[in-house]
Amino acid sequence: MMIVVALFAVSWSWSVAENPASNPNGTLEAKLHPPPQVETILRRSCYNCHSNSTHWPWFVHFRPFASKIRRDVADGRKALNFSEWQAQTGGNAQLESRTLATSCSLMEAGMMPPRYYAYVHPGAGPSSAEVKRFCRWANDEANRLAAAK
Ligand code: HEC
Repeated sequence: MMIVVALFAVSWSWSVAENPASNPNGTLEAKLHPPPQVETILRRSCYNCHSNSTHWPWFVHFRPFASKIRRDVADGRKALNFSEWQAQTGGNAQLESRTLATSCSLMEAGMMPPRYYAYVHPGAGPSSAEVKRFCRWANDEANRLAAAK
Protein backbone atom coordinates (compact mmCIF):
# COMPACT_ATOMS: atom_id res chain seq x y z
CA MET A 1 0.00 0.00 0.00
CA MET A 2 2.76 2.44 0.95
CA ILE A 3 4.50 1.69 -2.30
CA VAL A 4 1.40 2.50 -4.26
CA VAL A 5 1.00 5.76 -2.37
CA ALA A 6 4.66 6.60 -2.93
CA LEU A 7 4.37 5.89 -6.63
CA PHE A 8 1.34 8.11 -6.95
CA ALA A 9 3.13 10.86 -5.10
CA VAL A 10 5.69 10.96 -7.90
CA SER A 11 2.81 12.60 -9.70
CA TRP A 12 2.08 14.12 -13.01
CA SER A 13 5.27 15.17 -14.66
CA TRP A 14 7.29 12.71 -16.55
CA SER A 15 7.39 14.08 -20.02
CA VAL A 16 6.24 17.45 -21.20
CA ALA A 17 4.66 17.87 -24.58
CA GLU A 18 4.62 21.51 -25.56
CA ASN A 19 2.83 21.83 -28.84
CA PRO A 20 2.86 25.39 -30.01
CA ALA A 21 -0.51 27.09 -30.19
CA SER A 22 -1.72 27.25 -33.77
CA ASN A 23 -1.94 31.01 -33.23
CA PRO A 24 0.34 32.41 -30.51
CA ASN A 25 -1.82 35.53 -30.37
CA GLY A 26 -4.94 33.44 -29.89
CA THR A 27 -4.27 31.82 -26.52
CA LEU A 28 -6.24 32.72 -23.41
CA GLU A 29 -3.18 34.56 -22.06
CA ALA A 30 -2.73 36.60 -25.21
CA LYS A 31 -6.42 37.50 -25.43
CA LEU A 32 -7.44 38.05 -21.80
CA HIS A 33 -4.18 38.58 -19.87
CA PRO A 34 -5.06 36.74 -16.67
CA PRO A 35 -3.05 38.03 -13.69
CA PRO A 36 -0.09 35.82 -12.67
CA GLN A 37 -1.92 34.24 -9.71
CA VAL A 38 -4.77 33.13 -11.96
CA GLU A 39 -2.35 31.90 -14.59
CA THR A 40 -0.61 29.76 -11.96
CA ILE A 41 -3.91 28.18 -10.96
CA LEU A 42 -4.80 27.43 -14.57
CA ARG A 43 -1.40 25.91 -15.28
CA ARG A 44 -1.42 23.67 -12.27
CA SER A 45 -5.06 22.62 -12.16
CA CYS A 46 -6.31 22.79 -15.75
CA TYR A 47 -3.65 22.91 -18.43
CA ASN A 48 -2.69 19.25 -18.33
CA CYS A 49 -6.04 18.53 -19.96
CA HIS A 50 -7.08 21.88 -21.44
CA SER A 51 -4.05 23.21 -23.28
CA ASN A 52 -1.42 22.20 -25.78
CA SER A 53 1.17 21.79 -23.02
CA THR A 54 0.49 18.58 -21.19
CA HIS A 55 2.83 17.24 -18.55
CA TRP A 56 2.17 13.54 -19.03
CA PRO A 57 2.46 11.46 -15.88
CA TRP A 58 5.00 8.66 -16.04
CA PHE A 59 2.24 6.09 -15.51
CA VAL A 60 0.56 7.13 -18.75
CA HIS A 61 2.51 4.22 -20.21
CA PHE A 62 0.83 1.66 -18.00
CA ARG A 63 -2.57 0.07 -17.79
CA PRO A 64 -5.09 0.77 -16.50
CA PHE A 65 -4.20 4.47 -16.52
CA ALA A 66 -3.07 4.88 -20.10
CA SER A 67 -6.39 4.85 -21.89
CA LYS A 68 -8.23 6.86 -19.22
CA ILE A 69 -5.62 9.62 -19.16
CA ARG A 70 -5.22 9.83 -22.91
CA ARG A 71 -8.98 9.91 -23.36
CA ASP A 72 -9.41 12.64 -20.74
CA VAL A 73 -6.74 14.82 -22.30
CA ALA A 74 -8.18 14.34 -25.78
CA ASP A 75 -11.75 15.01 -24.59
CA GLY A 76 -10.62 17.86 -22.36
CA ARG A 77 -8.85 19.64 -25.21
CA LYS A 78 -11.77 19.11 -27.53
CA ALA A 79 -14.21 20.58 -24.98
CA LEU A 80 -11.92 23.46 -24.05
CA ASN A 81 -8.36 24.26 -25.09
CA PHE A 82 -7.00 27.44 -23.51
CA SER A 83 -4.10 27.40 -26.02
CA GLU A 84 -6.65 27.58 -28.83
CA TRP A 85 -8.98 30.08 -27.18
CA GLN A 86 -9.44 32.31 -30.21
CA ALA A 87 -9.94 29.41 -32.62
CA GLN A 88 -12.40 27.63 -30.32
CA THR A 89 -14.50 30.65 -29.40
CA GLY A 90 -14.26 32.22 -32.82
CA GLY A 91 -13.80 35.54 -31.05
CA ASN A 92 -17.44 35.38 -29.95
CA ALA A 93 -17.51 37.45 -26.74
CA GLN A 94 -20.69 35.77 -25.52
CA LEU A 95 -19.17 32.32 -25.90
CA GLU A 96 -15.96 33.48 -24.19
CA SER A 97 -18.04 34.89 -21.38
CA ARG A 98 -20.06 31.68 -20.93
CA THR A 99 -16.93 29.53 -21.00
CA LEU A 100 -15.29 31.55 -18.21
CA ALA A 101 -18.45 31.52 -16.10
CA THR A 102 -18.81 27.76 -16.61
CA SER A 103 -15.17 27.20 -15.66
CA CYS A 104 -15.78 28.99 -12.37
CA SER A 105 -19.00 27.07 -11.70
CA LEU A 106 -17.38 23.70 -12.37
CA MET A 107 -14.48 24.57 -10.07
CA GLU A 108 -16.83 25.70 -7.32
CA ALA A 109 -18.81 22.49 -7.70
CA GLY A 110 -15.58 20.49 -7.39
CA MET A 111 -16.16 18.97 -10.84
CA MET A 112 -13.12 20.53 -12.49
CA PRO A 113 -10.46 19.37 -12.24
CA PRO A 114 -12.01 15.86 -12.09
CA ARG A 115 -11.63 14.31 -8.66
CA TYR A 116 -9.18 11.61 -9.64
CA TYR A 117 -6.75 14.31 -10.78
CA ALA A 118 -6.16 15.31 -7.16
CA TYR A 119 -5.11 11.75 -6.39
CA VAL A 120 -2.72 11.36 -9.26
CA HIS A 121 -1.42 14.90 -8.97
CA PRO A 122 -1.12 15.75 -5.30
CA GLY A 123 -0.94 19.45 -4.64
CA ALA A 124 -2.53 20.34 -7.96
CA GLY A 125 -5.36 21.89 -6.02
CA PRO A 126 -7.09 24.16 -6.41
CA SER A 127 -7.53 25.23 -2.78
CA SER A 128 -10.74 26.99 -1.85
CA ALA A 129 -8.83 30.29 -1.79
CA GLU A 130 -7.63 29.58 -5.32
CA VAL A 131 -11.13 28.79 -6.49
CA LYS A 132 -12.25 32.16 -5.10
CA ARG A 133 -9.34 33.94 -6.73
CA PHE A 134 -9.99 32.29 -10.07
CA CYS A 135 -13.72 32.96 -9.91
CA ARG A 136 -13.27 36.62 -9.06
CA TRP A 137 -11.21 37.09 -12.20
CA ALA A 138 -13.29 34.76 -14.41
CA ASN A 139 -16.60 36.34 -13.46
CA ASP A 140 -15.27 39.90 -13.88
CA GLU A 141 -14.05 38.97 -17.35
CA ALA A 142 -17.28 37.13 -18.11
CA ASN A 143 -19.31 40.23 -17.22
CA ARG A 144 -17.04 42.50 -19.21
CA LEU A 145 -17.25 40.23 -22.26
CA ALA A 146 -21.01 39.79 -21.96
CA ALA A 147 -21.42 43.56 -21.98
CA ALA A 148 -19.10 43.92 -25.00
CA LYS A 149 -20.42 43.85 -28.48
C1 HEC B 1 -7.67 15.35 -15.87
C2 HEC B 1 -8.14 16.14 -16.97
C3 HEC B 1 -8.84 17.45 -16.70
C4 HEC B 1 -8.43 18.49 -15.90
C5 HEC B 1 -7.16 18.58 -15.07
C6 HEC B 1 -9.43 19.54 -16.04
N1 HEC B 1 -10.41 19.14 -16.91
FE1 HEC B 1 -12.00 20.26 -17.53
N2 HEC B 1 -12.66 18.69 -18.71
C7 HEC B 1 -12.04 17.48 -18.83
C8 HEC B 1 -12.80 16.64 -19.74
C9 HEC B 1 -12.42 15.23 -20.15
C10 HEC B 1 -13.90 17.40 -20.16
C11 HEC B 1 -14.97 17.04 -21.16
C12 HEC B 1 -15.80 15.89 -20.80
C13 HEC B 1 -16.78 16.23 -19.79
O1 HEC B 1 -17.62 17.12 -20.02
O2 HEC B 1 -16.75 15.57 -18.72
C14 HEC B 1 -13.80 18.69 -19.48
C15 HEC B 1 -14.71 19.72 -19.62
C16 HEC B 1 -14.54 21.00 -19.09
C17 HEC B 1 -15.42 22.11 -19.35
C18 HEC B 1 -16.69 22.05 -20.15
C19 HEC B 1 -16.49 22.59 -21.52
C20 HEC B 1 -17.83 22.63 -22.20
O3 HEC B 1 -17.94 21.93 -23.18
O4 HEC B 1 -18.71 23.34 -21.72
C21 HEC B 1 -14.92 23.19 -18.70
C22 HEC B 1 -15.46 24.60 -18.67
C23 HEC B 1 -13.72 22.74 -18.00
N3 HEC B 1 -13.52 21.40 -18.26
C24 HEC B 1 -12.94 23.54 -17.21
C25 HEC B 1 -11.85 23.10 -16.49
C26 HEC B 1 -11.09 23.95 -15.60
C27 HEC B 1 -11.37 25.43 -15.34
C28 HEC B 1 -10.10 23.17 -15.07
C29 HEC B 1 -9.09 23.58 -14.03
C30 HEC B 1 -9.61 24.09 -12.79
C31 HEC B 1 -10.24 21.83 -15.64
N4 HEC B 1 -11.31 21.84 -16.49
C32 HEC B 1 -9.38 20.75 -15.38
C33 HEC B 1 -10.83 17.11 -18.24
C34 HEC B 1 -10.09 17.87 -17.33
